[in-house]
Amino acid sequence: MLYSNNKLLIDKIAVDKIVKKFGTPTYCYSYNQLKENILKFQKNFKKVDPLICFAVKANNNTIILKEIAKLGLGADVVSKGELMSALKSKIDPKKIVFSGVGKTYQEIEFAVKKKVLLINAESQSEIETILKIAKKINKVIDIGIRLNPNVDAKTIKEITTGKTINKFGLTEKEIIELINHYKKSKYLNIKCLSVHIGSQITSHIPYLKMLKAIQKIIDKAKFNFKYIDLGGGMGINYGENNQKLNYKKYSNQIDKFVKKNKVKIIFEPGRSIIGNTGYLLTKIIYIKKTNRINFIIVDAGMNDFMRPALYKAFHRIIPSIKNRKKVSKRHEFVGPICETTDKFLSIKSYQKLNEGDNIVICDVGAYGKVLSSNYNLRTSPKEILIKKSRVFGIRKKETLQNII
Ligand code: LLP
Repeated sequence: MLYSNNKLLIDKIAVDKIVKKFGTPTYCYSYNQLKENILKFQKNFKKVDPLICFAVKANNNTIILKEIAKLGLGADVVSKGELMSALKSKIDPKKIVFSGVGKTYQEIEFAVKKKVLLINAESQSEIETILKIAKKINKVIDIGIRLNPNVDAKTIKEITTGKTINKFGLTEKEIIELINHYKKSKYLNIKCLSVHIGSQITSHIPYLKMLKAIQKIIDKAKFNFKYIDLGGGMGINYGENNQKLNYKKYSNQIDKFVKKNKVKIIFEPGRSIIGNTGYLLTKIIYIKKTNRINFIIVDAGMNDFMRPALYKAFHRIIPSIKNRKKVSKRHEFVGPICETTDKFLSIKSYQKLNEGDNIVICDVGAYGKVLSSNYNLRTSPKEILIKKSRVFGIRKKETLQNII
């Protein structure tokens, strides 16, 4: 992000110019940033040589998925819809893993038909469902089993997944029992142990604990997995605090682990690939001044971007035109939705703003558009992509006719 003559630019294009053409609210993504993130991720784990499966739940736009496929990544999907969009985006099925606690018979059958690399199962009932399908089609199905290592990822409570109080995965004891029970199956091939302990993780310590828990299973079960799927969760810097994940320490530990166990590592990153590529462009409709607070009412609402309302997540908000007139009064950036939690940011002071100004909510590429809804019967916003100094529409705004 860069200001030139006080004008905010995204990949060298002025935000006000983009807004003039595409309107607001609009999700705008930077291809340059996406490519940089992928190259950086690959570099961070170069020694490990992993299969990187982008977590489609973070962003399922098919034009973006196509770019991700071209840059060599696979996909982690959690529903038939996500699998269909990954396939439509030309992601190689042999690079697709299917995760999730509640896959239905039909969804699994569809994934098997499409020859995905792995179905990562999360319960014995799910394994039995897969077995039923394998028997019906008389084919061997490759599966993974998801471990719940009971490790605290030290992230937002709502996005922690690796504790036994969470619904995800199976305990060490259960997994060892399941391995012994299914390892001679004619229809199931246990190929992978998978794990994912949470999201927005900024310390390597929980990851090291997670690796230890996996090693324990391998040692106890005396079983050779072909793949170890370490999930995603790598946190990004939203500008609230500067705690950064130490990739070097995580990667070194994985490297040792790989040498010892001779396994192929899979990652399922979402946020670290797409988070900082996205901006939500929005316009100030009204400014409502009270004694203590200036409410900046913008045309994006919590229906367009949920993270602040859902997790009290922090996102920087920056103006499309910078000025030096500071207003020392609390500013609250809010949307038009009839909910008090429809608030993006509360800040002690801000530069002088006017009705009609454009402002930008930053780092919304992951879990932004995908979490949007039609609450208050609003259409969900359009998406655009900047690539090679050109702006492309990559998803139309819904129309009211379609949703009413
Ligand atoms: N793999 C599995 C099995 C997952 O459940 C997730 C995320 C990922 C990979 C990708 O995690 P990432 O690298 O993006 O952290 N809506 C929340 C985040 C929910 C994450 C759910 N699972 C948010 O806005 O922060």
